[in-house]
Amino acid sequence: MGSNPVDFKGLTFVAPADRLGRFAGVLGPRRDLLGDCRILEVGCGTGQEVFELAQALPAAHVVGVDISSGNIEIANAARSQAELRDRVAFISADYMDVNLGRFDCIVSDSTFHLMNLDSDSLFGKVVEDLNSCGLLVFSIPDACLYNWSLVGVRRCLRMLRSNLLDRFVLWIAMRLHHGDMSQEMLKQRVQYMYVIPDKYFSKRLVKRLETTHGLQHLSTTPLPHTSFAQPKHSISIFRKLR
Ligand SMILES: C[S@@+](CC[C@H](N)C(=O)[O-])C[C@H]1O[C@@H](n2cnc3c(N)ncnc32)[C@H](O)[C@@H]1O
Repeated sequence: MGSNPVDFKGLTFVAPADRLGRFAGVLGPRRDLLGDCRILEVGCGTGQEVFELAQALPAAHVVGVDISSGNIEIANAARSQAELRDRVAFISADYMDVNLGRFDCIVSDSTFHLMNLDSDSLFGKVVEDLNSCGLLVFSIPDACLYNWSLVGVRRCLRMLRSNLLDRFVLWIAMRLHHGDMSQEMLKQRVQYMYVIPDKYFSKRLVKRLETTHGLQHLSTTPLPHTSFAQPKHSISIFRKLR
């Protein structure tokens, strides 16, 4: 289990432009989601990917859930202006505490490893929330040397954490990402520099999902690694068998 110090309830998280549409890009071409289907995004942030998914899948109803009410307020403000608002809904809740019915597809981008709970509890609920033959598509950090080293650095940062260190981290981020992210977006990410992921993508996880949770592994693809301060992630697709 993780021990992550971030209280997501009080934070907002806007996805950078280069991340938008990456789940929609994976699901858009899938014929099994072309019809009237229900999709859930767990940890939807301010909701941009929910809109991308609704656009890529013109008959789908897409729900985004996020523990931060600030994120959901921003998402709902965007929804009220959006043409496809009737096919999109946002819920402010801890995913583990909410019953939103069953879905044909559950997606989650860079969230499952932040939830401070064991894999069996999380994936047990995900499988319960999926219809039979439903798809699970998620990105989490890879189990790899690069990420272990980054976790080592983050453990040191956590021991030294202070307002001054937060300001120094922001100063470095502004120099590294000048032009591709606003100061506000970089501020949102300072907290994440102290997070130790509690789940990693590995062969062991695949085996666990297949044997314990009745999920069939369809594919895993590495995602572009755009900042050395972030863990390397992969996006994986599973199908519920029963
Ligand atoms: C790293 S951000 C990713 C946001 C978005 N998926 C993206 O890729 O831009 C993680 C998100 O998960 C949300 N989150 C963390 N724990 C959660 C939980 N237990 N239930 C629902 N959302 C959660 C946070 O509020 C945050 O918006």
